[in-house]
Amino acid sequence: MDSFLIEGGTPLRGEVQVSGSKNAVLPIMAATLLTAETCVIRRVPDLSDVRFMCRILSSLGAEVDFDGSTLTVRAANITSTGDYDLIRKMRGSICILGPLLARLHQATVSLPGGCVIGTRPIDLHLKGLRCLGTQIRIDSGYIHATAPELSGAMVFLGGRAGPTVLGTANVIMAAVLAEGVTVIESAACEPEVVDLIDFLNAMGARIQGAGSPTLTITGVRALGGVEHEVIPDRIEAGTFAVAAAASGGEVILRGARPDHLGAVLDKLQEAGVPIERRGGALTVGSARALRPVDVTTMPYSGFPTDMQAQLMALMCLAPGTSILTERIFESRFMHASELMRLGADIGVEGPSAIVKGGRPLSGAEVMASDLRASAALVIAGIAASGRTQVHRVYHLDRGYERMEVKLEKLGARIQRVPGE
Ligand code: EPU
Repeated sequence: MDSFLIEGGTPLRGEVQVSGSKNAVLPIMAATLLTAETCVIRRVPDLSDVRFMCRILSSLGAEVDFDGSTLTVRAANITSTGDYDLIRKMRGSICILGPLLARLHQATVSLPGGCVIGTRPIDLHLKGLRCLGTQIRIDSGYIHATAPELSGAMVFLGGRAGPTVLGTANVIMAAVLAEGVTVIESAACEPEVVDLIDFLNAMGARIQGAGSPTLTITGVRALGGVEHEVIPDRIEAGTFAVAAAASGGEVILRGARPDHLGAVLDKLQEAGVPIERRGGALTVGSARALRPVDVTTMPYSGFPTDMQAQLMALMCLAPGTSILTERIFESRFMHASELMRLGADIGVEGPSAIVKGGRPLSGAEVMASDLRASAALVIAGIAASGRTQVHRVYHLDRGYERMEVKLEKLGARIQRVPGE
């Protein structure tokens, strides 16, 4: 397994191009199963999760061509049974369920497992699909779903922690070809869901209310091929913004969408980080004196759970006490103990991490546990003095396109060490 070797203490300076969004493209890839015609998707990030999803689509019978940026899918002849092991290994692949049901009226997919950031149930996905008339049976790790006729219905998708992103995607994709009108209440409002809706509407779907908690979907008979450009990755942009601030440098983020980054930029400014918006670029500098901030993760447009770990790394550098409260995924604090290896002072109490910042960080060997935790360790390694080795960076490769190359261009002293 590869690792990153980082010599810390260099401020990041220069420009970085933001890649296409991982969490937008994965459901969009699933949506290509809704038509027999060709779909062309541009600004697709070259990530291991994307390559994995390509394999899942191929295993269902779709013709898939990915050149590292443009993805072409033609799902003319597909089957309703996905490869058990492929689907089980990537949680995002659960969103093939809705399109398979809509197109073939049946689907057999493996139940996604829990993961290191929390239990991650799919009860809301199944509830929504049942509302549309799907019969669901769970047997030997498989979800067997059949829906001879999908009919529009009223679906409430709010859960314990608010709306569900992929659950909303699944129910939308089942409803686009259903008979009649579906109204989803408490739908996820994330920009990635809006991008999926834009993609589906361009295919001929009739979905109103994108970006609001109420979606109205009028079923259509068939959908056609489409060309689409994926939105920029707001979490990648946010990660580089935090890295710039933590390193004491100044970075221009090209192609970032400030309108998708409201809560993140607001918190960075509260922490004293200077941010300038000019044309299509966002410039993030470093604070004269970094201030601690309190944050609670929330569904969009609140502060994203996918930025909590990176902000924690920054708060380790801010003299004073910050409280980071996780309301989306209960166990998403695996990075705290690894940050402590670098000298951070963090206590986790229930859903909150209490960070006593301002102690000097110094390099150490650390272990990445999930995608965003890994990003936090890289940020801390860049800010720390001395050498940090981040093991298991395959987590990072799932969701950041050539992260070490982008960081190196900004002046970071970082290198990939091929796995032993
Ligand atoms: N939930 C339920 N029941 C369900 C589904 C979700 O109780 O049926 C709960 C979850 O346990 C959690 C909350 O609802 O407490 C929100 O989970 P959600 O379903 O929105 O998460 P997801 O759709 O599985 C996506 C992203 C995650 C991101 C979350 C929240 C993709 C592929 N994944 O997951 O991304 O953290 O939304 O914004 O889009 C990441 O990129 O690192 C990542 C984990």
